[in-house]
Amino acid sequence: MATAKIAPSMLSSDFSNLASEADRMVRLGADWLHMDIMDGHFVPNLTIGAPVIESLRKHTKAYLDCHLMVTNPIDYVEPFAKAGASGFTFHVEASKDNWQELIQRIKKGGMRPGVALKPATPIEEVYPLVENENPVEMVLVMTVEPGFGGQKFMPETMDKVRALRKKYPSLDIEVDGGLGPSTIDVAASAGANCIVAGSSVFGAPEPGQVISILRKSVEGAHQNS
Ligand code: DX5
Ligand code: ZN
Repeated sequence: MATAKIAPSMLSSDFSNLASEADRMVRLGADWLHMDIMDGHFVPNLTIGAPVIESLRKHTKAYLDCHLMVTNPIDYVEPFAKAGASGFTFHVEASKDNWQELIQRIKKGGMRPGVALKPATPIEEVYPLVENENPVEMVLVMTVEPGFGGQKFMPETMDKVRALRKKYPSLDIEVDGGLGPSTIDVAASAGANCIVAGSSVFGAPEPGQVISILRKSVEGAHQNS
């Protein structure tokens, strides 16, 4: 059964106090910490790389859910494994030719493989990655165009979540972008169980309350399904 995982996006945190921001989120009920890795090429923005993951790992035991918005994900596997990443989610658009080798290497590095897709990418493109002898363990359906926090949730991406949930009842399905108290019910009832939320959590007067609203929505949708 796919259980609720609430993953605050550290992109919206105070990067100058990353360790204490991570601790704060864990104390407030976060299951995972979502780390957005952007290379300034696959997406226009540039964020953090393996050295920052390595530093953060020294301060927290939390599950570091790394989302790699990069052009050559295979080049990042070894450095991220060494740095202590927990999950390694690459984009299907950036791994057309080598996803089999990529998944193998991610697992060998002791990380959990996931695949992400942009809003315009058809869901069929990830099916082969879920249905083979060495599958990904999570699919991340982007609910905004990757690159920046604080964008508006795109409800039209929910058809992809519904299709995935119908096909794979116990798969981890993550949604990322524009999630918060006003959009969570749509995503949860479509079947998403891993919820990334940046601005809605960090921008709230009481982030713990938002985390708990997100969790309750996922758990409620689960009971009704
Ligand atoms: C966007 C990133 C997201 C982002 C989400 O490219 O992948 O993880 O931080 O931020 P919000 O929740 O503010 O849309
Ligand atoms: Zn992300």
